[in-house]
This record gives sequence, structure tokens and C-alpha cells, in this order.
Amino acid sequence: AVKSLLFRACAALLTFGACTRVSTPQTFTASRVSGLRGVVRAPGDKSMSHRALIFGGMAEGVTEIEGLLEGDDILATGRAMQALGASVERIGEGRWRVEGRGPLRSPDGVIDCGNAGTGVRLLMGAVAGYELTATFDGDASLRKRPMKRVTGPLAEMGARFDWNAAEDRVPLTLHGGGLKGVTFVQSVASAQIKSAILLAGLNATGETVVVEPEKSRDHTERMLRAFGAELEVTEEGAGWRIRLPGGQRLKGTHVAVPGDPSSAAFPLAAALVVPGSEVTVEGVMLNPLRTGLFQTWLDMGADLTITNRRMAGGEEVGDVTARHSALTGIVVPEDRAASMIDEYPILAATAAFAEGRTVMRGVGEMRVKESDRIALMVAGLSACGVQVEEEPEGFIVTGAPGPVKGGATVDTAHDHRIAMSHLVLGLAAEQPVSVHDPEMIATSFPGFVEMMNGLGGNIVAGDAA
Ligand code: S3P
Repeated sequence: AVKSLLFRACAALLTFGACTRVSTPQTFTASRVSGLRGVVRAPGDKSMSHRALIFGGMAEGVTEIEGLLEGDDILATGRAMQALGASVERIGEGRWRVEGRGPLRSPDGVIDCGNAGTGVRLLMGAVAGYELTATFDGDASLRKRPMKRVTGPLAEMGARFDWNAAEDRVPLTLHGGGLKGVTFVQSVASAQIKSAILLAGLNATGETVVVEPEKSRDHTERMLRAFGAELEVTEEGAGWRIRLPGGQRLKGTHVAVPGDPSSAAFPLAAALVVPGSEVTVEGVMLNPLRTGLFQTWLDMGADLTITNRRMAGGEEVGDVTARHSALTGIVVPEDRAASMIDEYPILAATAAFAEGRTVMRGVGEMRVKESDRIALMVAGLSACGVQVEEEPEGFIVTGAPGPVKGGATVDTAHDHRIAMSHLVLGLAAEQPVSVHDPEMIATSFPGFVEMMNGLGGNIVAGDAA
């Protein structure tokens, strides 16, 4: 197994030349510091980076991408598109050139999506419209995540699957082609499901319609238009009805990927909870379906300001500055969940420093992310001496101004956001906080530790001394 891992790492290096990691320690430890200061740039947005590679590989002609997130999840999607017949080439730091070479074709081996739920679900949608057979797999975390939410709709459109449907997990084999457009009314607001269906619909006959109960991030709709696709989006209740005519070919384009608000959240959170801090993250995407956390922090009394608002890559971006703040617990509106679903772990970490209760409900989806994020945040915060109550679809953190106790080693179950949330907590805790599986941070935020330490943090390899 080690040999095959090494082989895969070398193959990645040869193909993309972007990856220099060889081995990482088993734990990282964050210790209390007296203030974080500086100006940084967030890595490229993960959602947009997956989409840019996939759409580029499906399109006719050349797509040039700048600001691509070079995290492990995205590199896995790049390798997948290459295995499916597209040309994918790194031409500089964050700069990639992708070229579709006609219809996607059956890959030679298994498509390993690593840790990436977005990668595997969007790729399944993308390939379903082509006459090909592809097997998808992933790491231990991905192998636990539900797939029926995507295979169900794709099967209704005509895709066939070899898998154990009762287990509802990868690995699975998809046979694509011969799809017809269908109307789906989604029960959960999920951009991954919506995107998979729309991508399949591009190569279906007739019209594909997706109706969502609430609005989920709309990067697919925006980017499909930039790639020349025709689609109609209308408001319906609290969500959208999206109509996409079948038989459409995408055209290569230029994609500028802005900074990821989900990643920017970590240095900003650290500034909010470490006394004496002021941190600015430049070029953060401000799509309103991604900024629920910023609004929530403002509601909690955070000193958070956004300047230099401008348009970049079809999205509004701005520079976000956070200063150490006296926070107060709030009830987070449930209808905000979709706009900050990945941000509840770091919100919970900051809530530990807020006066009173922060109530986070209506977030059952957190249990089927890279880990059961409700259970892991409850366990991690409790181990650090924070009062937390777990509910089936949410959790409540009761905080207090001033440092939390810390002094724990936290299980992260291969989940990058659980790891980063606890390391941020450790920067403001009385005792150091250690996390397992720190290598997972590179799935979404390569360079996280270096960035935090550059701001004045103290995160080191290994256990607490
Ligand atoms: C994503 C959508 C979200 C989010 C994930 C990225 C996307 O998942 O949690 O990290 O890029 O479409 P769901 O749409 O399934 O909630």
C-alpha cells in the first residue's frame, strides 16, 4: 500500500509538477500567542477550482485558469479530467491550461478522487452524459459519504451503476450515455447535487430542470454561462428553478479564481479570538451565497470590515479585515445554513470565546461532510474544556470571553476543517491544542501553517511539549 501511495505521489509530481510534499508528521500543535498581524491572500476558491478544471476539460478549445487552488482535492480532479481524455497542464503558479479533446472517454484505471466529495459528485455528473465507463473511489473519509443523492438523479436520467446501492458508497462504476433530461425537485439545498445534474443535462436530450428548496452556491450556473452554455434561472419560493436545454457544447474560456472565503475564515477567526490581532485577507470572494459566516460574526459583534470591493472572475471580491473582538453568542438563523455550511466548525471555535450561547441548528448536513462535523466539533471542543450540547441536527456552544482551557489532542477523522478549526482555537487557548492527520489540511489550504505562523502564530509539527 505504501509503495502504491509513493507511486501515486510520484505520478502526480510528474504530471503536474506542483506537489512537493513527501511526508508530514502525525500531529500539529498550536500554542497561545499574543497577537496576529499582517496582510495575506487566501488560496483560490475550492468550489470554483473544481469546476474550472471539469468544465475546461468538457469544453471545446482552450481554458486558461489563474488563481487555481493547488490543493490535493483539486489536483485529484485535474488528474481525473486527464484520465478522461482532457489535456491538463500546469503553466505557472496557480496557472493551468486545460483543453477538451472531444467527448470524454473511459479512463484506464480507477478515478481516485481522494478526499473530495465535490470532486467525485461533479465528475460523476460530468461523465454521465458520455458513452463511457468509469470507476470512482476515494480515501477513507470519502468512502463513508452518501452518493445516492447523486446516483439517484443520474440513474433517472439513464446512467447505469455497478455498486452496492444499499451501502450507498464509493467505490462505484458508472456507465454513461443515452441520457434524457428530467425535472428534479431537490429536498436538500445542495450545490453538489444541483451541479451534477446540470452537468449531466448538458449531454442529455431534452430539457433538464432542477428546483432547489433554498438557494445553494451558484458557481456552476455562473461558470456555465461563462463557458457559453444557455440556462434559465428563476426564483421559486426560497430557492431557484434552473432550466438547462440538452445537447450543449461548452467553449473554453479564461477563468480567474478568487480567494476562498471558506479558507479566509481561518486567519480571520484567529484574529477575532487572539487579543491584540489585526489581520487582512485580500481578494476574498464575496458571493452572497458564501458569506453567511461573515454576517454571523458581525451579528456576534465582530470587528470585521470589508474594503476594496470589486469584480474579479465574474464574482464580487473584497479585502476582509478582522481585529480582536468581544463576541456575543447568538442564535444563527437556520436559513443561513447553506451559505456557510462549511464554516460551522470555525464558527464553533470562535463561539467558544463569545459570551453566552451560540445556537447552531438546521445543520444536519454537517454530519455527511468530510467527517461527522457536529460530532467531531462537540468532541474536540469538549476536550478543550468548552461547554457544548449536541443535538441531532445541530449543536450549541456556550462560551466565555477570555482563553479556553485547551490542552487536548483532537481526533480530526481526516477532515481538514476540523483540524484547522482546532489549531485556530489553540492559538488562543491556555494550554496547547494538538490535531491528528494534519496532512489533510493540504486538501483545501496548502500553506496554512506557514501563513498562520507568518502572521505571528505558533503552530509546530508534533505533540505538545
Ligand atoms: C460545494 C458544496 C457544498 C460544500 C462543499 C463544496 C460545492 O456541499 O459543503 O464543500 O462546491 O458545490 P453541498 O452542496 O453538498 O452542501
